[in-house]
Amino acid sequence: MAIRKVGVVGCGLMGHGIVQVAAQGGMQVVAVESDKAALERGLGRIDKSLAKLAEKQVEKGKSTPEQAKAFVEKTRGLIKGTLDKKDLADCDLVIEAIVEDLAVKKALFKELGGLCKPSTILASNTSSFPIGEMAAASGRPERMVGLHFFNPVQLMRLVEVVRTDRTDDDVFAQARAFGEACGKSPVSCKDTPGFVVNRLLVPYMTQSLLMLERGDASAEDIDTAMQLGCGHPMGPITLTDYVGLDTTLAILKGWVERYPDEPAFEIPKILERKVKEGKLGRKSGEGFFKWDGDKKA
Ligand code: CAA
Ligand code: NAD
Repeated sequence: MAIRKVGVVGCGLMGHGIVQVAAQGGMQVVAVESDKAALERGLGRIDKSLAKLAEKQVEKGKSTPEQAKAFVEKTRGLIKGTLDKKDLADCDLVIEAIVEDLAVKKALFKELGGLCKPSTILASNTSSFPIGEMAAASGRPERMVGLHFFNPVQLMRLVEVVRTDRTDDDVFAQARAFGEACGKSPVSCKDTPGFVVNRLLVPYMTQSLLMLERGDASAEDIDTAMQLGCGHPMGPITLTDYVGLDTTLAILKGWVERYPDEPAFEIPKILERKVKEGKLGRKSGEGFFKWDGDKKA
């Protein structure tokens, strides 16, 4: 079975990008949000991103203005926004990209397991939670995988495809093929905390925040050090703003609770404080740095 129609639940930072790359891959996409304002925000982000991509295609001489316009119209035409989860019933694949809260995700997968056609593959874009627990909640563990995309989805070339002990071989192969159709390079992962990237990346981000908390160096200097000393495209403090401080905290809280003896999992107080103050990073306009839209202020 080929994946032709895809559902994405949550059209935030990650979801809007997943919706877009799936449509760019030629698939029909149903984007589900919990309220009208969030849906409009998500679709607006897609419009902005498509316009940017089209502009670049023309600038680089890869497309004529007419071809670029046709690309935007074709891609946008494949996307349908809705507030009704019943519109997901006939999707071949449904990807969850809602808040990093396991209880909320499990409730959603239980609902999806009840309303999607029996052949629908279910996937989570979770950064940190066990896919197996969500798979059990869905009632169709053989048809569940992790599909972990990276931020910003439109530009990052990786997708981690996660299998549990119960994932069907054919479902796993289809999930990898879907990642490729979205223009990504898939890597296969087991259902371990943080899979490959976040198991390495989140403790690194944590260490940079602990360093800041201790006053070892300024945020600017920590970032400059890693950019110029290691060739990273952005430093770890900017990256935390980019990922979202609320999401980073949710990842760490889940791990500390589940693996209290793992020393790499620790919650910096400075992170908790910022989230309490509503400073969530780029998405709220301030985190460890101030932001003016997508750019640092
Ligand atoms: N859609 C279309 N175009 C976009 C875009 C989008 N969403 N975002 C940026 N662009 C365009 C920009 O407009 C820019 O175009 P111009 O060259 O025409 O100006 C171009 O892409 C490059 O963007 P930037 O100018 O912002 O510059 P950059 O070269 O610094 O690239 C970046 C940005 C790709 C984000 C780079 O900084 C980077 O790779 N950062 C690290 C990101 C990273 O590590 N992500 C992983 C986070 S962890 C995660 O995702 C997992 C988890 O579970 C938490
Ligand atoms: P976000 O807060 O930007 O977006 C979440 C969206 O889901 C919001 O727009 C919200 O309105 C919507 N939503 C919440 N509950 C819903 C429901 N029941 N039904 C429909 N919509 C609902 O968060 P995000 O950064 O996009 O993260 C989404 C998921 O992706 C999380 O599991 C996160 O861990 C993971 N992730 C995040 C990043 C990152 O860098 N931020 C990277 C990879 C994976």
